[in-house]
Amino acid sequence: MTKNYSMLILPGDGIGPEVMDEVKRVIEWLGENRGLNFDISEDHVGGKAYDVYGKPLSDEALAKAKEVDAVMFGAVGGPKWAGVDYDKRPEAGLLTLRKELNLFANLRPAMCFEPLVDASSLKPELVSGLDIMILRELTGGVYFGEPRGIEDLSNGQRRGVNTQVYETYEIHRIAHVAFDLAAKRNGLVTSVEKSNVMESGLLWREEVEIIAKDYPDIKLEHMLADNCGMQLVRTPKQFDVIVTDNLFGDMLSDVAAMLTGSLGMLPSASLGEVGKGALYEPVHGSAPDIAGQGKANPIATILSFAMALRYSYDCADEAKLIEDAVNDVLADDVRTADIHQDGKMLVSTTEMGDHILNALTKLNS
Ligand code: IPM
Ligand code: MG
Repeated sequence: MTKNYSMLILPGDGIGPEVMDEVKRVIEWLGENRGLNFDISEDHVGGKAYDVYGKPLSDEALAKAKEVDAVMFGAVGGPKWAGVDYDKRPEAGLLTLRKELNLFANLRPAMCFEPLVDASSLKPELVSGLDIMILRELTGGVYFGEPRGIEDLSNGQRRGVNTQVYETYEIHRIAHVAFDLAAKRNGLVTSVEKSNVMESGLLWREEVEIIAKDYPDIKLEHMLADNCGMQLVRTPKQFDVIVTDNLFGDMLSDVAAMLTGSLGMLPSASLGEVGKGALYEPVHGSAPDIAGQGKANPIATILSFAMALRYSYDCADEAKLIEDAVNDVLADDVRTADIHQDGKMLVSTTEMGDHILNALTKLNS
């Protein structure tokens, strides 16, 4: 009997729907060629949901997200909603999903595909073979800390407040994920904070050290976040797993993404307690400047779907197949605009999808 996998698709704003269309074609291909059947539901999120429902995530969509094996998420945001209150902004839809599904572990692999070595802003020898995992804490820190807000002061000034806060259990559970990942990789964890100026950073460092005692075979290093940014663009291959808080993880994962040639290449997985909810999304945003023009690179979203196959659906073979297909297409010099270089073939979003489907068929025969 074939198993049905449940999935909620939330394409969102900007280029989200375009790149998600290519994932839908990959899903169809898997049904026809590998017998994998998905029960798919779809809803709006972000600005689109705000326009339709008056809020960036409907109660129905949230309930559905909690029920399915995995959520595939496109992107949210755009200038159209810049004046909307924070709690109704497109981004709030994503933050609500992360918090409500308790998706505390955000895996952002930064891998350099060999055919793209020249597309990086760094010298080829610095990025060739690059394979690092940024593990970002996703449900705590300054993104969610209280108090927060903007207040009017009596002297006519205004005061903006956000609070960086971490509790022991939050640090412990993300540290466990980091050490478990490193055990399956190259055995090195770099824990990143600003313990030189922040108490929450010092707590982070001390609590990670406590968990490290359970993993005698894994090497633990500490690094200050500013130095980590510098080291990432100096000698990125020194890293294996980088574990860090919500805000530093947001920044450092964008830096790491660019090492691989383009933000359009990087997938991510957001996971909670095992078997209780998961969300997969490209690291890039909604890119409103190129939305609707067929220029977007669908690879990050397709690779996010491959991560879903691996972590939520136990289909590692199909995940590998998709990653290999992407590599083959890149090796054939097929490029969307973000990774295009002289002499390579410039293709649209759907054409990139066509090439990936063809490569899948070739690999599968
Ligand atoms: C990311 C994005 C989000 C974040 C935004 C869209 C809220 O930048 O996933 O990296 O800041 O976490
Ligand atoms: Mg970001």
